[in-house]
Amino acid sequence: MFDKVAGKEVTTPRQSIPEVTGDIAFQRLGLEAEDVLLDVGTGAGDKAIRAARICCRVIGIDINRKSLEIASKKALQEKLDNLIFASGSFQEPCRELDLAQYRITKILALYSLHHLPDQLKKKTLGTLAQLLHRPGRIVIGDLMFFQDPHKHRQQFDEIHYDGGDTDFPSRVEYLTECLDQFGAKVQVAQIHPLVGVIVADWV
Ligand SMILES: C[S@@+](CC[C@H](N)C(=O)[O-])C[C@H]1O[C@@H](n2cnc3c(N)ncnc32)[C@H](O)[C@@H]1O
Repeated sequence: MFDKVAGKEVTTPRQSIPEVTGDIAFQRLGLEAEDVLLDVGTGAGDKAIRAARICCRVIGIDINRKSLEIASKKALQEKLDNLIFASGSFQEPCRELDLAQYRITKILALYSLHHLPDQLKKKTLGTLAQLLHRPGRIVIGDLMFFQDPHKHRQQFDEIHYDGGDTDFPSRVEYLTECLDQFGAKVQVAQIHPLVGVIVADWV
């Protein structure tokens, strides 16, 4: 189930570990023209905009309205009419949009899920799995512990981990077990001892 991403990729001097994680997570979405992507915790919307150039519809949701304003302005500049940004959270994804109407086939959670504690992550993953059409895929690129985080304290800044103040990464096994319980076939790529990409498929 686990595979390690080649060291060469993660040590490229121009790319940070979060950037590498973003690129790998995006690739592993395997977007196709007919896909409808939900990007949860879309932030400034960069991945949503990239995806909107490939697939037929993209919905970016975030808990932070300021980020959504920035993302919406960018989308306007890019003249993309297949992209919607709306207020929504992991806890309440349908706050502004009835997402069940959108035939969502792919979901991305990039560096966002780690803001939730374990129990809430599990609940959220169940909710997202229900919103997903079959066949469908969820990709999580995020902080997740493959090893004891204390051994990697020196690298917390480099991987954008605040040490537990507002970031609550899970053990990778916890995430894979949750997804497994919801019926997914799960694959994991380790990018750093504390960062990885999980691909969960429902057939
Ligand atoms: C580090 S940013 C990542 C943004 C984007 N996914 C990216 O990779 O560029 C984390 C994002 O998660 C959002 N976020 C935090 N908690 C959230 C929640 N409970 N529900 C939805 N979004 C949340 C934040 O507002 C922020 O935009």
